[in-house]
Amino acid sequence: MPKELWTAVDTYITDLLIRPDPDLDAALESSATAGLPAISVSHPQGKWLYLLARMRGARAILEIGTLGGFSAIWLARALPKDGRLITLEIEPKNAEIARANLKRAGVANQVEVRIGAARDSLEQMVRQGEGPFDLIFIDADKVGYPAYLELSLQLSRPGTVIVADNVVRDGAVRDPASEDENVQAVRTYNAMLAAEPRVTATVIQTVGSKGYDGFAVALVTK
Ligand code: SAH
Ligand code: DHB
Ligand code: MG
Repeated sequence: MPKELWTAVDTYITDLLIRPDPDLDAALESSATAGLPAISVSHPQGKWLYLLARMRGARAILEIGTLGGFSAIWLARALPKDGRLITLEIEPKNAEIARANLKRAGVANQVEVRIGAARDSLEQMVRQGEGPFDLIFIDADKVGYPAYLELSLQLSRPGTVIVADNVVRDGAVRDPASEDENVQAVRTYNAMLAAEPRVTATVIQTVGSKGYDGFAVALVTK
């Protein structure tokens, strides 16, 4: 598959439509320097999340899987002044780097990075009656996706948009016999969307600098 071509087109899109943002570049640089894996969303995908949040008029956003805060900066940039983003991260080191990146980007006052296993954090949020959120972005460990969807629905209301990254996985998602637990987990996630009467959903395949993958997008309707 021509990943070089997809990456070149991502560069074209980024140069054309995405204003240079030293804070986003610095977030990627500091993440790389600290040895974090280069698995943030791409620039065009980050802007897509930003546009989605703005189209939704999101004032309360939840992210599951912070890494160095790259997608969190994009999402926070879409918030109104009194809007808030909560982002969940299991690795204290990642959370520390993300906090510094969010601070540099001038959005630290709107973003809370919560350290812990996302499942525990989400269960606590449900117990404490937090939410509902307008937009939820699921991007942590893939095996956790089914539980994250169940818990996200409890933090939603009609109108909430739930987006999940990495649900196509080089096309492997179409193989029911896959022995990859990540593939099986996203298959379960997609099947849950299909069976869930509270949502209407689709999956959009993507190519780009991150290879061949896709996003599941769901709207909570009741
Ligand atoms: N959304 C980020 C990328 C996230 S990468 C971006 O686009 O910029 C996935 C992140 O999820 C990693 O930082 C990883 O440490 C975290 N993660 C993995 N398992 C987790 C869990 N059980 N709970 C919370 N975070 C987890
Ligand atoms: C991986 C995780 C991601 O969220 C992603 O977008 C790409 C790769 C990974 O764990 O390898
Ligand atoms: Mg991802």
